[in-house]
Amino acid sequence: MMRFLEIFSNGDSQSLRISQKEIPKPNDDDVLIKVEYVGVNRIDILQKKGLYNSEKEDNDVLGVEVSGTIVNMGSKAYLYNPTLKEGMKVCALLSGGGYAEYVTANSSLCFKIEENFLTMEEAACMPEALFTIWKNLIMIGDMSLGSSILIHGGSSGIGTMAIKVANLFNAKPIIVTAGNDKKCSACIGIGADYAINYKKEDFVKKVMEMTNGEGVDIVLDMVGGEYLRKNISCLKYKGKIINIAFLDGAKSEIVIPEIMKKEAIITGSYLKSSPIDEKCSIACDLRSKLWPFINKGLLKPVIDSVYDFEKVEQAHERMENSMHIGKIVLSF
Ligand SMILES: NC(=O)c1ccc[n+]([C@@H]2O[C@H](COP(=O)([O-])OP(=O)(O)OC[C@H]3O[C@@H](n4cnc5c(N)ncnc54)[C@H](OP(=O)(O)O)[C@@H]3O)[C@@H](O)[C@H]2O)c1
Repeated sequence: MMRFLEIFSNGDSQSLRISQKEIPKPNDDDVLIKVEYVGVNRIDILQKKGLYNSEKEDNDVLGVEVSGTIVNMGSKAYLYNPTLKEGMKVCALLSGGGYAEYVTANSSLCFKIEENFLTMEEAACMPEALFTIWKNLIMIGDMSLGSSILIHGGSSGIGTMAIKVANLFNAKPIIVTAGNDKKCSACIGIGADYAINYKKEDFVKKVMEMTNGEGVDIVLDMVGGEYLRKNISCLKYKGKIINIAFLDGAKSEIVIPEIMKKEAIITGSYLKSSPIDEKCSIACDLRSKLWPFINKGLLKPVIDSVYDFEKVEQAHERMENSMHIGKIVLSF
């Protein structure tokens, strides 16, 4: 048996409590990981509250990324990822189940950790952000040398890693928005060229000033709502708006001729429901293109705080109140 965090409904509110269940068994292409740390993501909170439409095959235990040790391997796991073996320290992208002492992971979505360059705490924060950024900024956004980019939620888990990856790709300028001056300074500290406190300044006006009236090639947005219309105003001719969330509203009113004038591309994606083949292909790209930087200590996440898993509700509260800068982690 193992301990895990179970979603517990108490009338109108949902919380998590420690419970016991069988240790999962790996399928042929899976490994079983003894979890050390799990990265906390907004989707965990949405799923806990029943606000995320999870797929039927999803795990009802929260947690989409972990670090830990491989303790068992399915009969074909080695074929799908020959770098793995029992006893190895890894991090993994999951479709759920990480808020537990043990979890199974598809072997193709596991990454060997060189602890000289990445601690196990840091490793637990990598998969969700790196997969999301690779899919959206590189595959969809075609970010490359000299791409100008606006990242909303610059101080978030995704935002802080996006700043770092955009720097590795020599995107310029990297402009971010964040909700207070402390968050803005932190974003500059990790490599943003400009940070706009959206509560004090009009971000459209600032972006146009910072780009000499041209606008940016790519906008990465997690806010939605009325930001969509504003994002179009920030866009360069033939630029792309990539939506990954809609924290401020799923609906937006836009003016169609403004899209036409700029030949703007408005797109977006969900990582969680992407086909497994695509996730495996992203994993290959990450292994060959980004892991060399990680294994030289040149790419690390920003860690905000680490909580014991028993204090999970405090960790979630910190995220819900947007107190954090970077990633929140639970230790098991
Ligand atoms: N589509 C995908 O595949 C995918 C994958 C991963 C994550 N996501 C989504 O991307 C977002 C970022 O993920 P994360 O784990 O990095 O979360 P996070 O750290 O909690 O980031 C959310 C950020 O949004 C900012 N924000 C702006 N307006 C907001 C509003 N109205 N309500 C709440 N926050 C607001 C918050 O800071 P300030 O407002 O203070 O600046 C905060 O930094 C989440 O919504 C997540 O669900 C999507």
